[in-house]
Amino acid sequence: MIKTGKNILKTLPQEIESVDERVKPFIRWAGGKQNLVLKLSEHLPKKMFGSYFEPFVGAGSLFFHNKFENPHLSDINPHLINSFISIRDSAEEVSNRLVFHKKRVSREYYYKLRDVFNKRKDQFTIDQAAIFIFLVHTSFNGIYRVNKKGEYNVPFGKGKPAIPDIAHLLKIQNKLKGVTITNGMYEDILSSVKRDDFVYFDPPYPPLNDTSFFQHYSIDKFPNQQQIELSEYAQDLNKIGAFVMISNAETPMIKELYKGWKVNKVSAYRYVNCKAERKAVSELIITNY
Ligand SMILES: C[S@@+](CC[C@H](N)C(=O)[O-])C[C@H]1O[C@@H](n2cnc3c(N)ncnc32)[C@H](O)[C@@H]1O
Repeated sequence: MIKTGKNILKTLPQEIESVDERVKPFIRWAGGKQNLVLKLSEHLPKKMFGSYFEPFVGAGSLFFHNKFENPHLSDINPHLINSFISIRDSAEEVSNRLVFHKKRVSREYYYKLRDVFNKRKDQFTIDQAAIFIFLVHTSFNGIYRVNKKGEYNVPFGKGKPAIPDIAHLLKIQNKLKGVTITNGMYEDILSSVKRDDFVYFDPPYPPLNDTSFFQHYSIDKFPNQQQIELSEYAQDLNKIGAFVMISNAETPMIKELYKGWKVNKVSAYRYVNCKAERKAVSELIITNY
């Protein structure tokens, strides 16, 4: 049960955060906001707020950069969520397995482990979490992508992956202590949101153009209809008095959907084509406050 009213220790994240509590995500993620985290943090509500909800958590760039009260993190990707839960509950075990895999890194080992991961794709264990983290770090461009059968199919990329060490994982574990972490659709969490809570939505973006990188490579299917539904959920949250912040692409449809909201334009480097080239593009930080 979420605490309400006087029981909430309300926080102003920017003011009470100490540098030590900021941690880099343990994984790179398509659409990750690591390079926008300072700008996003400037747009957090200036007023005190209650619980924090991030239902498209991905690598959790904004969460790991700030201190939030009673955080709820969730994502549709079960392996990603399994890795968050495994680190929260068993960081040392995850680290031991990562050290083991890192010592053996090679093209052959990568493909062997990728087969193991795919054979066990319906298992959500510490072993599977460590393999997931290892594969994403060692893969081409550090991305997670599956085929129609749900099998991870990214080729080998890096012989010297920057796999998080034990010190990093313990910081992540510390940050995740007491955090509610669930696997599911973003809609699932919305009935828990109360007045004065803060919700950050970072959905998969609509493609910028016909050859946009993510149209080819993303596993996330988030068609226009879902963008429309998300904007309706955001309106509902606005009505109950929650603070809402949304990241999205600067497209005519997105601007139309959030007419009347505060829209801030920022520039970010993103992959924009199949050659994995990065380019500066405009993105939006949309708020109801
Ligand atoms: C742009 S990424 C989030 C990136 C994150 N903010 C970061 O900094 O790493 C979008 C995330 O939404 C998740 N996702 C896609 N569709 C979803 C849905 N319907 N409900 C919940 N999560 C979803 C994807 O798995 C992905 O992790």
